[in-house]
Amino acid sequence: MKDKIELLKKKKAEAKSGGGEDKIALQHSKGKLTARERIELLIDEGTFEEVDMFVKHRSREFGLDKQQFPGDGVVTGFAKINNRPVAIYSQDFTVFGGSLSEAHAEKICKIMDMAMKVGIPVIGLNDSGGARIQEGVVSLGGYAEIFLRNTLASGVIPQISAILGPCAGGAVYSPAITDFIFMVKHTSHMFVTGPNVVKTVTHEEVSFEDLGGAETHAAKSGVAHFALDNEVEIFEGIRNLIDYLPLNYKDSAPEYKFDFNRELIEPKLNDIVPDNPNKPYNMKDIIHLLTDEGEFLEVHKYFAENLIVGFGRVGGISIGIVANQPQLLAGVLDINASVKGARFVRFCDAFNIPLLVLEDVPGFLPGTEQEWNGIIRHGSKLLFAFCEATVPKVTVIIRKAYGGAYDVMNSKHIRGDFNFAWPSAEIAVMGPKGAVEIIFKKEISESSNREEALNQKLDEYIYKFANPYVAAERGYIDDVIEPAVTKLKLIKAFQLLKNKVDKNPKKKHCNIPL
Ligand code: HXC
Repeated sequence: MKDKIELLKKKKAEAKSGGGEDKIALQHSKGKLTARERIELLIDEGTFEEVDMFVKHRSREFGLDKQQFPGDGVVTGFAKINNRPVAIYSQDFTVFGGSLSEAHAEKICKIMDMAMKVGIPVIGLNDSGGARIQEGVVSLGGYAEIFLRNTLASGVIPQISAILGPCAGGAVYSPAITDFIFMVKHTSHMFVTGPNVVKTVTHEEVSFEDLGGAETHAAKSGVAHFALDNEVEIFEGIRNLIDYLPLNYKDSAPEYKFDFNRELIEPKLNDIVPDNPNKPYNMKDIIHLLTDEGEFLEVHKYFAENLIVGFGRVGGISIGIVANQPQLLAGVLDINASVKGARFVRFCDAFNIPLLVLEDVPGFLPGTEQEWNGIIRHGSKLLFAFCEATVPKVTVIIRKAYGGAYDVMNSKHIRGDFNFAWPSAEIAVMGPKGAVEIIFKKEISESSNREEALNQKLDEYIYKFANPYVAAERGYIDDVIEPAVTKLKLIKAFQLLKNKVDKNPKKKHCNIPL
């Protein structure tokens, strides 16, 4: 037995050495960690249970039969994050550039299948040259097996991807199907075709970073939900995110202890919205005053910044926050904001995370650019997402709620559970100036003093409509509240809604306007 145990130890040490010392040194010299170092930083110490350490590829072409590395370029297994279970795969760039062989794909599929059976999140750490070229179609088949599992797992268990090196070609579609993508700045890249192919096909000269770096995908394409400075921040970010999420769609997110006897009135909230309705303010100041300990994990921070989405806690309950940002484009809804919001709302609804909407929206963005690119198609995604969501849904209208955007932002009519408004709320079909110029066009143009007539009509309109009381009289607003009591109101609302049950009609699946 002793010899056999020694042999086992030797084999395990060999598997743990990946592509060998030189390749590990090269990986470090690029500012990247190894697959195993990454797992250790991500998980609770000593909790990793590895599987398939001895798996080897079965390829014979191009001399591959003479190049065997136990584990075949990916480390897979199960671990705990803040004492809750997760499944993990971590691609090992030191072995064939982390490229995906049939065996490598089988290892990933195995832990995904187990994660589905036991209902736990899957975290993929990607660092790969893509399909293993020597294996040809077998490797492509391996990717397809993963894509299928990503799709079937969507809405069942949370799936999180970190891109920590190259991720190119069709390989990008696995992370793209998952719920959240983290990218590390400068050492990670995602693209369907790299700079060389781009140059050949379109004659554009573009660097790796500009084409598919973390900042590009965080700010321009919206592919990345988080772009962080280094790998350590990435793992902290994933741990933080996991804490807001349930393990699966039947589970609830962990509820944190909360001292309900502490002071819950926040007078600072009374002073944030300026008297001039056209003056901007920072919606994040309100968010930080409403969440427990002021904590807010912003998702898609650099993409479509006119809409803020992210996770926080209110009275210990994990919630998803969707808020217009008056500081950017006056908080208007455009294509990117609608798509960003819709995806976030659907994630929260799929995983039983209650939604809080903080509304200050002048409407949808006008213009040919928006119309021709499909603001109708994309704006309807956000509407659809809020309509179909059955989780607890609370809205606070902070200031503007105009036009279709009033309906869209979780209004009472689309199953908002509690709809509050601050006294500064303006709820109407459109802003006073636009409205008055349409409905009193004749009177104003025929008046001897047009300016005076316009101002008089404006005052009349503002008095009648630019307030929350018309909506409150109809019950579209449950209560008009002093800003300072908002946190208290939200805590009570989310506590009451804890056991809310609401259902959509039976169907195969919906047909969200894609
Ligand atoms: C086999 C690969 C490989 C691959 C890299 N390697 N990519 N082996 N299949 N796809 C190997 C290299 O031969 C090298 O082996 C080692 O990994 C490290 O690669 P380097 O090129 O030395 O590293 P670096 O300079 O950092 O460049 C990394 C890279 C480059 C940018 C990823 O290797 C590259 O462009 N690879 C090909 C990428 C690609 O086109 N893949 C196919 C995409 S299409 P040695 O032994 O020398 O250390 C795709 C289809 C998926 O993936 C389809 C799903 C539908």
